[in-house]
Amino acid sequence: MKDLVDRLKQQDVRVTVLTGAGVSAASGVPTFRGADGLWRNFRPEALATAEAFGRDPKLVWEWYAWRRFRIAACEPNAAHHVIAEWSRRFPNFKLISQNVDGLHERAGTANTINLHGSIWEVSCWQGCVKAPKRWRDETVSFSEIPPRCPHCKGPIRPGVVWFGETLDPGVVRQASAAADCDVFITVGTSAIVYPAAGFITAAKQKGAFTVEINPEATPASNTVDLVVRGAAETVLPDMAARLAAL
Ligand code: OAD
Repeated sequence: MKDLVDRLKQQDVRVTVLTGAGVSAASGVPTFRGADGLWRNFRPEALATAEAFGRDPKLVWEWYAWRRFRIAACEPNAAHHVIAEWSRRFPNFKLISQNVDGLHERAGTANTINLHGSIWEVSCWQGCVKAPKRWRDETVSFSEIPPRCPHCKGPIRPGVVWFGETLDPGVVRQASAAADCDVFITVGTSAIVYPAAGFITAAKQKGAFTVEINPEATPASNTVDLVVRGAAETVLPDMAARLAAL
């Protein structure tokens, strides 16, 4: 840990953090693959694919409406706040997140690279020309499900990336560029979903000092230079305190 803190103390250090669902666990947002993970109780292919939406948009929207309702009641936790503070402290800071919950933004991290979109955004299912590619809508009316596109009156869909869908190439480019850094810290991800997990190896190959913060082992544990076994909401404030003490 001292090695890491010393590196973070260096002038103009380029820091990139990659987050997954574990960073929001302490806020009450369910993870996907843990004991109470969403994919234990729900089948992704029935709820998180374009085929599922085409088949039963009402069912898919009911699931997303439930998740939006649940996330709206959650607050950013200490891990989100440390990351937000680092985004102001380190001039070359980048955050890549797989989370769609918007808690990093609510904690005050600007310019988050949201690999999997946002649950607070929507897009036109038919991709009508008048609608923007995606737009933020926290007040979608669920009086009619699926909710309607204000432009073409067709259905709108959640602004998240589903299984089998291609990530926005511009977002992937930004994330790849962010992997070129001095310190790369992966927090709260099972590191099995690509391309996200690939950025850990990419960062290492580009010469970054790589760190994993997770209470459990992941496929990335053997790749990184430093493993910190613990919860994001305790490890990150501890790191921040050590950084402040030096
Ligand atoms: P997962 O649910 O796969 O993994 C969550 C990780 O967080 C696990 O490795 C846990 O050990 C760890 N964890 C749990 N509590 C933690 C805590 N308090 N602090 C730190 N870590 C903790 O979630 P992701 O890796 O984010 O994709 O999943 C990746 C993608 O798979 C998601 O973005 C989603 C999902 O299917 C899409 O929906 C496209």
